[in-house]
Amino acid sequence: MNTTTSLAALRRLVLPANAAAAAKRLAVLQRPSFTTRASLPTTLSRTLSHPSVHTRVAIARPFGSLWSYQRNYSAAVSESVQPALGDQEPTTFIEIVDKKVHLHWPDGITSRLLVNTFQIPRDIKPNFVTLTPTGLEVIWDNDNHKSHYSYSWLQNHSYDPKIMDPYKPEGLPKLTWDNSIASNLPEVSYRDVMESDKGLAAWLNNIHVFGFSFVSGVPVSTKATEELAERITFIRETHYGGFWDFTSDLGHGDTAYTDIPLGAHTDTTYFTDPAGLQMFHLLYHDGEGGHNLLVDGFHCANVLKQKYPQSYETLSRITVPSHSAGDSTTHIIPSPRRNPILKHDPATHELIQVRFNNDDRSTLDHLNGDQVDAFYSALFDWNKVVTDEKHMLWTKFQPGRVVIFDNWRILHGRSGFTGKRRMCGAYTNWDDYRSRWRTLNTSAEKLTEEL
Ligand SMILES: [Fe+2]
Repeated sequence: MNTTTSLAALRRLVLPANAAAAAKRLAVLQRPSFTTRASLPTTLSRTLSHPSVHTRVAIARPFGSLWSYQRNYSAAVSESVQPALGDQEPTTFIEIVDKKVHLHWPDGITSRLLVNTFQIPRDIKPNFVTLTPTGLEVIWDNDNHKSHYSYSWLQNHSYDPKIMDPYKPEGLPKLTWDNSIASNLPEVSYRDVMESDKGLAAWLNNIHVFGFSFVSGVPVSTKATEELAERITFIRETHYGGFWDFTSDLGHGDTAYTDIPLGAHTDTTYFTDPAGLQMFHLLYHDGEGGHNLLVDGFHCANVLKQKYPQSYETLSRITVPSHSAGDSTTHIIPSPRRNPILKHDPATHELIQVRFNNDDRSTLDHLNGDQVDAFYSALFDWNKVVTDEKHMLWTKFQPGRVVIFDNWRILHGRSGFTGKRRMCGAYTNWDDYRSRWRTLNTSAEKLTEEL
């Protein structure tokens, strides 16, 4: 092969059957010793013409333009080198075209890669681009920084074209439920949770899958309950304080601090970022009643969608203002001021949050008459579904048995009660609970791959 070898000719080079061997004989594109397709650098020409070299390489144009990944990010990626992709690797090859690296996958798809950030020099260029057994290696010209991108990472994040589904759900599938779940309640032991990350992971997986979990064998004390909450992450402080220890004293001007029955609702609908998890532990009760009600908001939303699709659409679209103004020193409203009861991910259209507390709802001044009618019609349908006995899981609060639930999914309530009752518990941020769940159930390598 001579220095006038055409790009088309290069593209016809045959690939080897053995991935590792091919990768060892990797082809290196060296800049900028050639400037046109017809003027290949000597090194490259030798590489390509050597009979033992079969790795496919395509050459492109002058390296005059900016292309790169942000350098710090590249460094992070390079620390998580993944195993080779086995049979997929032999037919992977690369090409530099203007500002982009074209990565040609074995199935004929080509990923065109470019990320530009303000932190890298405008004129940065790759000095060397190499296929290694574990991925694509780039050495940059400004400081010889070496970046490594595993093949699996590149496939995961190929955006031109998309190869992998960027919106695939995380973890185990979520299982929605009605009250038949009473015969097989998700439960873990306090000891397992406190003594091992495996136990903690199982607890958090229960919450992920079912939206709630019980914990048995908890010492009947505020200290043990607080430590249990902190196994997940730090407790969220609100205008109710941090860790709660309360009785029915009408505190905070809030219905939670009374002994009246409470219908199914989610808490803190008036926060911009509603509380994520909510934990309760009954420490003492010398009266009757006060049973715990849980309702799967996602299941109810599914039922609403099937039985009353127009109402589902209305509650997903019409936004509702909310507030907390029980104390003279408290006046909380969220931003945005109004939020839908059923909130969906705009990209996937998946239901991601139920935000419903009829007692925290403000007036609907932003709606016209027809919209108010439509909203109340939908709200009544929603109420029918939520208060359907089939959907209501009643359990008895018991000292030593903690209940925790996802406040973005599970509605909770209680029956009225008599006597003196002492309850403790806590809120946890949703993001921090998810972070803990994610790191316990997924390897660090896989998490890095997904970033
Ligand atoms: Fe509540």
